[in-house]
Amino acid sequence: MWVQKLVGRSLNQVKTINAAQFCRQISARIVNKTNVEVQPQKNEKSLTFPGVWLRDNCLCEDCFHGSSKSRKLDWDNFDTRIQPVEVKTDEAAKEISVKWSDNHVSRFSLNWLKNRSFEEERQKEYLQEFYRPTTRHWSGSEFQEIARHFKYDEVMTQDSVLMEWLQSLAVYGVALLRGAPLDEGVVRRLAERVGFIRRTTYGEEFVVQAKPGAQNFAYLSLPLPLHTDLPYYEYKPSVNILHCVVQTDSPGGSNMLVDGFHIADILRREHPEDFERLSRVLVDWNDIGSEDGREFHNIWRAPVICLDSEGRYSRVNHSVPQRDSHFNVPLSEVLPWYESYARFVRLAIADSHAFKTQPGDVLTFNNIRLLHGRAGYDDSEVSPRYIVGAYLDWDIIYSRLRVLKKRAERQ
Ligand code: OGA
Ligand code: ZN
Ligand code: ZN
Repeated sequence: MWVQKLVGRSLNQVKTINAAQFCRQISARIVNKTNVEVQPQKNEKSLTFPGVWLRDNCLCEDCFHGSSKSRKLDWDNFDTRIQPVEVKTDEAAKEISVKWSDNHVSRFSLNWLKNRSFEEERQKEYLQEFYRPTTRHWSGSEFQEIARHFKYDEVMTQDSVLMEWLQSLAVYGVALLRGAPLDEGVVRRLAERVGFIRRTTYGEEFVVQAKPGAQNFAYLSLPLPLHTDLPYYEYKPSVNILHCVVQTDSPGGSNMLVDGFHIADILRREHPEDFERLSRVLVDWNDIGSEDGREFHNIWRAPVICLDSEGRYSRVNHSVPQRDSHFNVPLSEVLPWYESYARFVRLAIADSHAFKTQPGDVLTFNNIRLLHGRAGYDDSEVSPRYIVGAYLDWDIIYSRLRVLKKRAERQ
């Protein structure tokens, strides 16, 4: 009986909600002569949109080219003092229309407006999930928890797995694929599943093995201390793909990984002077040599810890073999910089996590953020080591990730 009553009451509530939905009203008004305030639904929070921004983003055929999703408004004559003079709502089409002081009329759907709300929460969600996923920094001891594994075949055939791999790479800066075939085409097929290979001085795909007369320090069987690849490029390749085709049976050949952003966090917190120096002093990074008969002399000057205008890490640079002997800083900066750099390197070594990839493993990691290295090994005919590598760029990866996310949301 009591239960029935309750059900009866909730049915009434449903009816009231339906009625409310039926007569819900979009409301819109002009505020301060320049802004448009929209309330998508009664009892919902109002959203404020600057008039100048609305006019700039008019979606009519004169102002916007639909198939290229591009603004074609005549910006040479754009009036930033434009004002809305009348706003109307269209309940059936779920739109508002705005008449402007120049008599132009624009229409905006509620969904379009809500998606572009200037509310802090909405902007945060857009920036931290859709623009670029927020990075999570980790210490070496957390490696097992944060490093995700994916099956190569599933990455190649299932969009949802491709998306998870790229999302892990974006958030943690590392992910491992397993079960790849042992042919030299794997890195290209993977890169092309995402977009396309980033070419460098060393070609598109490159083979890391001990080579006589090596032109690159990596092409020796010596230990390869922690580093980032190609710090001497202004546009440093973003993500390394290292496919293990043959792994040495000798005790060496393991890889080391460190989250450079985590090391920067430690310095920032515990050694602010070192952090300040390493994020300010420009270091000359270089690579001189020749590849396929073509000479090169690469130089890029940048700090070890690069920050963006909001103080966030934009890139970490470190490579002892590829740090130039030219050091274009005032004399007084030299020794203090060395002290700070030595601390950075010590902290990184102490935090590094080592593991040995097996044939069929593909190690992928963010070269802008992580430091990586390789233990030395005994290379011989009976115990060779053969790694095929390639790079991808973040522009291409993020784009693919957004396309996959949009598609998954539509389903
Ligand atoms: C490199 C490198 C890793 C490896 O060639 O720059 O980091 O496992 N190689 O050999
Ligand atoms: Zn227009
Ligand atoms: Zn490397």
